[in-house]
Amino acid sequence: KILILDFGSQYTQLIARCIRELNVYCEIKPCLQPIAWDESIKGVILSGSPFSVNDPNAPNVDIAAIAAKVPVLGICYGAQMMAKNFGGEVAKSNSREYGRAFMEHSNKDEKLLFDVAAKSQVWMSHADTIVRMPEAFEIIARTENIPVAAFKCTTLTPHPLLALQFHPEVTHSLEGKQILRNYLVHICGCKQDWTPAAFVQEMIGKIKAQVGDKRVVMALSGGVDSTVAAELIHKAIGKNLFCIFVDNGLLRKDEFETVLDSYKHMGLNVKGINAKDMFYGELKGVSDPEQKRKIIGRLFIEVFQQEATQLTDISFLGQGTIYPDVIESVSVNGPSVTIKSHHNVGGLPEKMNMQLVEPLRFLFKDEVRRVGREIGISEIFLGRHPFPGPGLAIRILGEITPEKVAMLQEADAVYIDGLRESGLYNQVWQAGTILLPVQSVGVMGDERTYEFTVALRAVTSTDGMTADWAHLPYEFLAKMSNDIINKVKGINRVVYDISSKPPATIEWE
Ligand code: XMP
Repeated sequence: KILILDFGSQYTQLIARCIRELNVYCEIKPCLQPIAWDESIKGVILSGSPFSVNDPNAPNVDIAAIAAKVPVLGICYGAQMMAKNFGGEVAKSNSREYGRAFMEHSNKDEKLLFDVAAKSQVWMSHADTIVRMPEAFEIIARTENIPVAAFKCTTLTPHPLLALQFHPEVTHSLEGKQILRNYLVHICGCKQDWTPAAFVQEMIGKIKAQVGDKRVVMALSGGVDSTVAAELIHKAIGKNLFCIFVDNGLLRKDEFETVLDSYKHMGLNVKGINAKDMFYGELKGVSDPEQKRKIIGRLFIEVFQQEATQLTDISFLGQGTIYPDVIESVSVNGPSVTIKSHHNVGGLPEKMNMQLVEPLRFLFKDEVRRVGREIGISEIFLGRHPFPGPGLAIRILGEITPEKVAMLQEADAVYIDGLRESGLYNQVWQAGTILLPVQSVGVMGDERTYEFTVALRAVTSTDGMTADWAHLPYEFLAKMSNDIINKVKGINRVVYDISSKPPATIEWE
């Protein structure tokens, strides 16, 4: 595997995803955490950073010590740190170098640039520049504006030191992936054998070894992650996996029944629990969004725990946690290490005091889908939009009543079915309807109406962190408005949300 030491760059995860796409396994580690060396580590990449290497508190590592073990590749900040640590000089650049540039190189035998065009578009994003190279280092590529675009040293350390001033991991560096591949294959000797099939085989073995003949309990949500995680565990331990699927009354129309049915078809041992009344009861009169979330989270744990304790001999808790949830990120305010603590079922592990089985802990979302495909999970699960844990509760602004839930479920079904039928479903990242706490006047036939408004939301995004409103065709929106108002009693007005995130969020609560 490859280790990526994270110095806080916004692109660190892109490096990881790019390497994984080249079928080489890699992990991101906080830059200051000591490396736990073992035979499997074939190379170390130093990421970019919001710091300048000349900042007094800039994070730094002993690059020579790393290159005593494996080849090192510095990217952007990593490159500048390498230059500085070996005696070169880095200074504020007169012309800031951002965006498109063209890297030029002439040595056809240069391993790092094997099969890369003599002039190739790359993406720069740095304020500092290397003004003097350390001795024994050799420049291997330049751009029009900067003499140092790539460099290396093969004499000072047992393994080579390589550096790129640009970002090979972004798609705007057109041959960036080829350069990373050259590093992985020609310099580190990686095999490119980390495929979904290999992952599945290895993971099934690991789960078997971890769990043995003990039993695992797991909550399913109908989402991609928990479904793929459950099926992997199921493949490893079969009937010793017990699944629980809770109907909190806040799912989409008919979702509980259809998803439960699909789970049973997959051969999962799953128990569906109808806890609607309990959720509605406790949510009565509550309109604050965070309070809704807390109540739903707490009730979910209570229901799950109650069911789980009825099962005997359970030693493990299965979870669909994925890599972005567990990457320890380096904060911009200093190389301090902060850990995001987001779990699909928040707070469960602490409460249940059980060991965790988390087969997807090291996968990115797109890899979860590929693994899901590999183990034969239906596209209906794999292609589903994300849906928040608190469900429709945070799409009904203000107080929740069973009647409002039913109304929103109908409107949502018209919208989502409409997206599917028009072939638009897969073009948006997430879509849903929001029931607004306003009533307005309308006219239907000869009658005056005074009914609710539904807002339609559809966004494009890659990770939900930022999003743009989807530019759905007017004809489609017109049809949805018409269909919803005609089919759903209680709604006489439909609006479309054209806010991006930031400054808005995807959900309204
Ligand atoms: P926002 O509204 O923050 O949403 O832009 C970003 C993504 O997160 C989902 N979301 C949640 N998921 N529990 C969840 O499991 C929550 O409380 C929650 N709130 C928002 C949202 O649907 C979107 O995909």
